[in-house]
Amino acid sequence: MLLVAANYSDLDRKLVLALSHIKFHLGYFTKFGVPSWSRNADIETATQWSNGSFHRNLAQKLESAKFDFVFFEDSVTVADKYSGSRELDLKHAVYTPKHDPLPLLPLMTRCTSKIGVIATASTSFYPPYLLARLYSTIDSLSGGRVGWNIVTSSETAAARNFGMDELPPPAERYDRAEEYVELAKALWDSWEEGSLVADLETGVYVDHTKVRAVDFVGKWYKSRGPLNTLRSPQGRPVLAQAGASERGRDFAAKHAEVVVGTTSGGVEGMKSFREDIRRRAESFGRDPDECKVFFLLPLFINKRQQGAMSEKEATALLEYGLVMRSSSLNIDFSKYDLDAPLPQDVEAGGHTSALDALKKASAAGISLRETILSYYGKSELGMSGPAEAIAERMIDVMDQIGGDGFLIEGNGLTSHLGALTEQIIPLLQHEGAVRTEYSGHTLREVLREF
Ligand SMILES: Cc1cc2nc3c(=O)[nH]c(=O)nc-3n(C[C@H](O)[C@H](O)[C@H](O)COP(=O)(O)O)c2cc1C
Repeated sequence: MLLVAANYSDLDRKLVLALSHIKFHLGYFTKFGVPSWSRNADIETATQWSNGSFHRNLAQKLESAKFDFVFFEDSVTVADKYSGSRELDLKHAVYTPKHDPLPLLPLMTRCTSKIGVIATASTSFYPPYLLARLYSTIDSLSGGRVGWNIVTSSETAAARNFGMDELPPPAERYDRAEEYVELAKALWDSWEEGSLVADLETGVYVDHTKVRAVDFVGKWYKSRGPLNTLRSPQGRPVLAQAGASERGRDFAAKHAEVVVGTTSGGVEGMKSFREDIRRRAESFGRDPDECKVFFLLPLFINKRQQGAMSEKEATALLEYGLVMRSSSLNIDFSKYDLDAPLPQDVEAGGHTSALDALKKASAAGISLRETILSYYGKSELGMSGPAEAIAERMIDVMDQIGGDGFLIEGNGLTSHLGALTEQIIPLLQHEGAVRTEYSGHTLREVLREF
């Protein structure tokens, strides 16, 4: 139970609670697309979200609940891997429409003062100089509250929008990303702290001795630099990454300050993922406390886990899942029998850990249909039911793992926002498990508050 003995004074109670729980961080996972079209759609939101009002409102609500950040996934394709057609992607709004989250970030930070905003951009498509300049500009616009989720992308269809026939294989994508991030960091550092002088007396605006060329020559990228933007409040955006493979984990541990993990391995798997990331971070000479692991968490507040569905709902969810997986794994699932387990020799063009999860289910004899359907409405960790039970379970799970935070899944689940911010968060705050105030100003400071 969440309750502490009644004979404690209020102060004792606060102290006991603060000592008895790990305090954890909170992020919110979403996209700049239609919220919840496939489930619980409300027509006004479904037709108005593209003007930014939904996400401005979201940022304000999450800031009042003292979330660390809102996190935007992103992709740059209209998905057609599944049976070679765009029909189901467009019908269920799976990948599409998806607007560019980067211009949205300043709108969200303009109407808030503390919450951070993290947007995804792909090293396979952006030229590094443009990306470094863009994030630097938005970091300045937001007063230092921006993060970059580094992805290498996995969809062939996306590659074809950028003049490529195929993406390089996953290992080479990580090789390139290593070099890319090294260059981006050099560009952000090409303006030293104190480079802006703005001295009316001497007439010097910028101290030229503190702005340097980077003269970067790598295997894939070359840039002279320096960047032509002022040094931004954070110097560089907070870096985030969600890598699950060996290479992905190394990349995350070396560069990321926010590492996204999944709950698929259960509490034990989550604990060992975090320990592994922290060990790797240390081996790269980093303080592991500067590398916070957030676990993507679907919540089913005030609901039981998805039980019997109507046929229409089950078909929509199945089609949604098939489009999503076909595109991200680069596998046309229309070629496989839905009522049989997926063959074990299927290979993915990325997201290898997601394919491993599908194969694990098929090895247990579970059909592709069942595996895809069971993903929706399912919480690996039992996070479904009344708010009190979920809050208690969140505390319990985080106590077992040892940190650092949850990334609450928002896509398709936006109807839970009221219950999340008005019921669950106050319960967690009451128990001393999450912050009740911000003390940091920039996103990096907020992440390092505890
Ligand atoms: C929670 C989560 C969010 C992700 N968001 C994106 C995204 O927005 N865009 C994208 O191209 N890839 C995204 N990915 C894919 C990862 O960047 C990465 O490619 C994937 O986890 C596979 O990593 P691995 O190849 O190291 O196993 C996401 C992965 C996870 C687990």
